[in-house]
Order: sequence, then structure tokens, then C-alpha cells
Amino acid sequence: MLNFDFYNPTHIAFGAGKVAELDKLVPKDARVLILLGGSSARKNGTLAEVLAALGSRAVKEFEGIEPNPQYDTLMRAVALIKTENIDYLLAVGGGSVIDATKFIAAAVYQTEDPWNILLKHGTNISKAMPYGTVLTLPATGSEMNDGAVISRGLDKLFFTHPEVFPQFSVLDPTKSYTLPPRQLANGVVDAFTHIMEQYLTYPVDAQVQDRFAEGLLATLIDVGPKVLANPQDYNAQANLMWTATLALNGLIGSGVPSDWATHMLGHEITAAHGLDHAQTLAIILPNMLEIRRESKRAKLLQYAAKVWNMTEGDEDARISAAIKNTRAFFESLGVKTSLSDYQISKDAIDHLIAQLEAHGMVALGEHNDVGLDLSKKVLEASFN
Ligand code: NZQ
Ligand code: ZN
Repeated sequence: MLNFDFYNPTHIAFGAGKVAELDKLVPKDARVLILLGGSSARKNGTLAEVLAALGSRAVKEFEGIEPNPQYDTLMRAVALIKTENIDYLLAVGGGSVIDATKFIAAAVYQTEDPWNILLKHGTNISKAMPYGTVLTLPATGSEMNDGAVISRGLDKLFFTHPEVFPQFSVLDPTKSYTLPPRQLANGVVDAFTHIMEQYLTYPVDAQVQDRFAEGLLATLIDVGPKVLANPQDYNAQANLMWTATLALNGLIGSGVPSDWATHMLGHEITAAHGLDHAQTLAIILPNMLEIRRESKRAKLLQYAAKVWNMTEGDEDARISAAIKNTRAFFESLGVKTSLSDYQISKDAIDHLIAQLEAHGMVALGEHNDVGLDLSKKVLEASFN
């Protein structure tokens, strides 16, 4: 096992009815800004429930954070915080609203150009406004980590900093009952890929992390179809929500190498072509595994055995079958796995490679050996 530091200060309030605990979780004298996406939280009653729980506190709302949150929108929230003397933020939404809140919390205190937070990947953050979240979409793990992804034009960049961990997150699985099939499927694919990026590298005899990752993957394979068939299946939603949180809260990634090349290619596809984050992962991950199957060989065999119960026969055939099952699982959820399914043509590849280069994504993966040539091969394979 590799050396590691694990730090995660986020308080989790999990279960049906937990939104009422906002009264205990948010300081009594806070001047709160609630941050919201389009209109789902207003339409489905979650916002009303949040407002009721906050009682007589001074509360303002900022609505209109888009999926793949946009810098200019977030800077309007920063201005509002200053004019309204806000001192506490509450994100009510999915990964986009929570990521946006992380950025806003840090940008409020920036003395330099706030876009530098992204250009410097968070290294210039020294302080952030405290905030909590009410999660409405299980997918990103943003509710219990210190990372965020923000978009501006053709740039979709990430930052991390321990100051932007949420103080608390309310995880009420009934809040995802209203999610449309596309977002439920996206959530399963995103969480699945987060686990794979930290598990499917090379063995370092990290037994707890491996068993944990395999259990989380198996849980997603079990509950993914169940939430799609019946979004009001409480136990399936509860298991999905907790799995998605554990997939990216630092635990399974501690003491092991990590990859993240699939995510970095995926971010460029979203920035250039507007695909949902998880759609890009469903396209890239199977091809990334196929093209890097030799350097990932030991872990691919372990994945085949522990997640897909393939222990017999030729090793290469097992690896091929495990990759095929991964793709088939994404497709079975309704998430297409070829770039051609999204009306993108091969002409797009050169631009995507140029953007990877512009963003310094030239030595990705657990061995830093995913250069632009290899990324190009993966993109070329993503049209099948
Ligand atoms: O905007 P509204 O109207 O609220 O609708 C949203 C949005 O259209 C809707 N939605 C959310 N909760 C709902 C609901 N609709 C009905 N009922 C509910 N309960 O879902 C749509 C998508 O929401 P979004 O927040 O964009 O989805 P997701 O949670 O998948 O977040 C994606 C973003 O997170 C970033 C992605 O890059 C992308 O920008 N990521 C963040 C990570 C992190 N911070 O650690 C890691 C991830 O790898 C990822 O990159
Ligand atoms: Zn992701």
C-alpha cells in the first residue's frame, strides 16, 4: 500500500426526513444564500422543505446554475453575496450546484482574478465561506469531497482545496425520486467510473481499498437497473446515494495509484460538444481500458474475477469479456457508448487533442504515460 493522508471533515446526515435537521446544522444567526440549479428543486418541493427547516433565518436565493456550471453565472452569485452580507451558503442540487458553491465560496475571498482558482487548480485558495449541501442527484461525490469542475467557454477545469469541503451534506434518498431516467443513469455511470479510476490501475496490495471498490461496483450493477425500473424504490435509491458518495470521498483512493485519464478526456468532450459528463465517461472508459489492457492487465483480471465472476479460461478472453460487460452495463442503463451516437464526427478529434494539450493534459494516467498519441487512439476507437 502507498503512504497516504486521509482527511474528510464533512458531516453526513443520511436518510428520509433529514432535511429537517438543517435547523441544527446551519448556524442560528447565519445569513444564508441558497444556491439552486434550473427549477427542479422549486418544482418538486425540495426548496419549500429547505426553507421551512431554515425557519426565521435571513435567507436569499440564487437560482439558475446550469449543468456544467458557468463561470459568469457564478460571478453574479459572488456579487450578490457581497451586497447582501451573506455569511453562509447552502447548495441544493446535484454536482453542478455543489461544485458551483465551492467555487463561489472560494471566489468571494479572492484578491486575484477568480478564474486563477481554475488555472492554478486551487493552489491559490486560502479561505472559503462555510457551506452545506442538500443533495438531489447521486453521482459526483461532490457532497463529500473538496473538488469542483467549472466551465468557461471551451475550458472545463477542476480545482481542489481542503477549505472547500462541505461542512455537512444532507443525503435524503427520497430527494432523487423525481430524477428523470437520463440523470439516474448518468449518476450510476459517473459513480462507476470514479471507482474504476481509483481501482483499475495496478496492484499495490491495498486489500481494504480493493474489496471496498469491488463491493461498490457490485452494488451499482445491482441497484442501477432497480432505480431506473422504479425511482421510488427507497432502498435502491439509498444504496445508490451512499455508493456514489463513497466512490469519491477520498476513502477508496487513499493508498492506491489513480488514473483519471478517462475524466480528463471526457471534460474536453463536454466543453467542446456539450455532452453530459457521464455520457463522455461511458464512451471513453471501455476504450481506455481496451487500449491500456497490457499495463492494467493484473487489475483487469482481478476486476473480471471479483466483479464479473470470471475465473475460468484464457486470461485475455476474460479481460475482453470484462470490458465488454462494462460497456454493455452502460448501454443497458440507456447511456450510449460511441461518439457517433451523439452526432460527433471524426473531424472533432484534432480539436479535442489540441484542447488537451492547451490544458496541459499530456501525461495522464497512473504511469503518466497517456500522452496525446495515446489519447488520440482512444478517441479514434470511440467511434465504434
Ligand atoms: O438544474 P435543475 O433544474 O435543478 O435540474 C438538474 C439538472 O438539469 C437535474 N436535477 C438535479 N436534481 C434533480 C433534478 N431533476 C429532477 N429531480 C431532482 N431531484 O439534473 C440535471 C443535471 O444536474 P447536474 O448537477 O449537472 O448533474 P451531476 O450531479 O451529474 O453533476 C455534473 C457536474 O459535476 C461535475 C461534472 O463535471 C459536471 O459539471 N463533476 C464533479 C465532480 C466533483 N466535484 O467531485 C466529479 C465528477 O467527476 C464531475 O466531473
Ligand atoms: Zn465524474
